[in-house]
Amino acid sequence: MTDSRPAVAIVLAAGQGTRMKSATAKVLHTMCGRTLLGHVLAAVEPLQAQQTLVVVGHGRDQVMAELEKSADGAKPVIQEEQNGTGHAVRLALDAAGEVEGAVVVVPGDTPLLTTATIEALMRRHVETVAAATLLTARMPDPTGYGRIVRDADGHVTAIVEEKDADERIRQLDEVGTSVYVFDAAKLRANLARLTTDNAQGEEYLTDVIGLLVADGDVVASVTADDHRETLGVNDQVQKAEARRLMRDRIVEHWMREGVTITDPQTTWMGVGVRLEADVTLHQNTQLHGNTTIKSGAVVGPDCTLTNTTVHAGATVVKSHCDGAEIGPGATIGPYSYLRPGTTLGARSKAGAYVEMKAATVGDDSKVPHLSYVGDAEIGERSNIGAATVFVNYDGIEKHRTKVGDDVRVGSDTMLVAPVEVGDGAYTAAGSVITEDVPPGAIGVARERQRNIEGWVEKRRAGTKSAEAARRAREGSTIGTESTGAGEQGEQQ
Ligand code: UD1
Ligand code: CA
Repeated sequence: MTDSRPAVAIVLAAGQGTRMKSATAKVLHTMCGRTLLGHVLAAVEPLQAQQTLVVVGHGRDQVMAELEKSADGAKPVIQEEQNGTGHAVRLALDAAGEVEGAVVVVPGDTPLLTTATIEALMRRHVETVAAATLLTARMPDPTGYGRIVRDADGHVTAIVEEKDADERIRQLDEVGTSVYVFDAAKLRANLARLTTDNAQGEEYLTDVIGLLVADGDVVASVTADDHRETLGVNDQVQKAEARRLMRDRIVEHWMREGVTITDPQTTWMGVGVRLEADVTLHQNTQLHGNTTIKSGAVVGPDCTLTNTTVHAGATVVKSHCDGAEIGPGATIGPYSYLRPGTTLGARSKAGAYVEMKAATVGDDSKVPHLSYVGDAEIGERSNIGAATVFVNYDGIEKHRTKVGDDVRVGSDTMLVAPVEVGDGAYTAAGSVITEDVPPGAIGVARERQRNIEGWVEKRRAGTKSAEAARRAREGSTIGTESTGAGEQGEQQ
């Protein structure tokens, strides 16, 4: 019995991608949590080819670094000059050594290609005992692709590149996708026969098909069920389209797993995201990296979460979180900015305009309004008053602040690190705390207030304030309406 695994999988990734007009090698452009190449390798990996070879050229240092980092066992083959897809495959096959059996070829710029489609191609290849089996697609707009030419019986006879095609061939809407399975020996023999006698002066892999047919070899084909899966990314417009399609695929997957997504069109996420049933995502939510959201949590509208874990029943509204862990039942936002190393306990709160970094907040503790919490540890059931700043930076070094359990930090407290506020302690509003506050004490660190009677009438004579002061002094304000100027803002 022959091995059903391919002998070699070749990924073509040496091209510059001129049409991208970018300094970054085309295959390293990213979408939905991976590079284009990363998506292709993820589709190829389950085939368990005996060798997986990636032809690299343009930007090869970066492409090889990416391979090193993310691709298990895929080896680079260097193509010094990009003399065409046929040339690239020839180099890869030479690098593979004396192999026999199936050789799978995929382009590095087809991120939506699935393992299932390549497997279907493999099956057709084996069934038909073909020398080559190619994946084709019917494109609503075939511009730029090589066209599939068939004879009267429907057999493939050639692939003609658009630049080499006459008007009749350009009318054809069936295109080559650059996804193939070849018999290794037939491929090797025919790659040696390729010429550069064409519009682009390159060795076209597509020409192998015409050569095989002319020799009477079997060339089989599979037409993709969904042409969108074979979309090649050659420019920024196609990249955006591919990203949209991949987003649709990922979002649909999670909806089928029981996630409520109120506006799929404005919800974006990468392949590394993990969601549980009964998560709700509202509009304009973006989830990146390995963000994980547990059952009952509600995220959005208007959230961007990167490498963040949201535990069961937590809510995150209009917030930006990176590298944060949000405890069960916690409430975040609106307008919170949680930076790496932030860990929030169960039922805790980071409220409006609160920024946190490298901060641990214990269960049931709250930072409700307008605060910066950096390099800090806050115990359980503590409350941090509005506009408190954990002053963590002395201009040279960062320092840590520790706040105990059941603490009440008054509004507008500056906690100048390193400093510690003990269990059950208070700080007075407006304090600049530079020394530790022992457990149960209140730290008061502010000027005592003094009032200078009559100052306004004397020093601001003729103003509306002086006039009001005079009326107040003469007792004439009774019965006039309040200006509201003296009302206290809400603080907690
Ligand atoms: C190629 C096919 C075309 C097909 C289309 C599908 C050829 C000649 N044309 O055209 O029939 O419809 O793909 O998307 O095969 N590459 C190398 N080395 C090279 C040249 C290219 O590694 O010397 C790589 C590129 O990085 C890319 C892939 O091969 O990943 C395809 O090359 P590209 O230039 O995008 O070919 P297309 O013009 O799209
Ligand atoms: Ca292409």
